[in-house]
Amino acid sequence: MAEEVLPEARIPTYVEGLDERLGGGIPKGHVVLVSGPPGSLKSSFVYRILFREALKGSSALYLSMEQSRASLVSQMASLGMDPGKGKGVHVIDVRALRREIEEIREAPRWLLGLRRQLVRYKEEMGCDLLALDSLDALYALAPMENPRNEIFQFIEEIRDLNATAFLVSEMERDGVRLAKHGVEEFLADTIVHLRLREIDAGMGTSVRRYISVVKMRGVNHDLDYFPLLVDGNSFEIVSE
Ligand SMILES: Nc1ncnc2c1ncn2[C@@H]1O[C@H](COP(=O)(O)OP(=O)(O)OP(=O)(O)O)[C@@H](O)[C@H]1O
Ligand SMILES: [Mg+2]
Repeated sequence: MAEEVLPEARIPTYVEGLDERLGGGIPKGHVVLVSGPPGSLKSSFVYRILFREALKGSSALYLSMEQSRASLVSQMASLGMDPGKGKGVHVIDVRALRREIEEIREAPRWLLGLRRQLVRYKEEMGCDLLALDSLDALYALAPMENPRNEIFQFIEEIRDLNATAFLVSEMERDGVRLAKHGVEEFLADTIVHLRLREIDAGMGTSVRRYISVVKMRGVNHDLDYFPLLVDGNSFEIVSE
């Protein structure tokens, strides 16, 4: 009997209108680069996915390298994510992480320490989904002699965790580089670009949010930039 080919398991983006266009969402196990300028909802977009998946029983680890845990959790509460229900998302902020990495008593080689720490977290609490917010904050802590090579190794080890991993990347408002060293774009399986654009609005100017999936290996998807509307708990694209 012919073997049945199961559709690839997907992690929804939980953006209304977008998941249908992606055949359900992001293929499980992808390394996802989420790039955008300040305020473009990078952290909110990623946290929201982990939060919703954790409600369904997945284990999720959110490494906040910049924003404190308290600030992140309260921001997510304002977007309708009740901290009481978010227990399934383990948020580790950089202070806690630094303490634990330094316990390993090596010269603070951050990338190496972080790699080991991630393996330990996975053993202790599981890690179906992982978020690293942000790559740029990590680079600032981890001077690298050969960035392309070290980032390659780091991302490959993240891939070996077999988690769906979200790597947040900070961009300038009108920048074209989706990540600092360029190599991240090639290594990622999926790239989500969150963009802010000024538009004329009557006598003044306003800023609109857009979202685009600019890369998704193995999926036939649109390359459009869709306006992204956020209203409380709901994220939605506008499309014809
Ligand atoms: N309750 C809310 N409803 C709608 N939008 C909100 C709400 N709370 C915050 N925002 C918007 O979310 C933006 C911040 O989102 P977020 O922190 O996810 O962005 P970011 O891209 O991670 O930014 P950064 O680069 O500074 O980390 C704010 O600038 C604000 O416009
Ligand atoms: Mg952020």
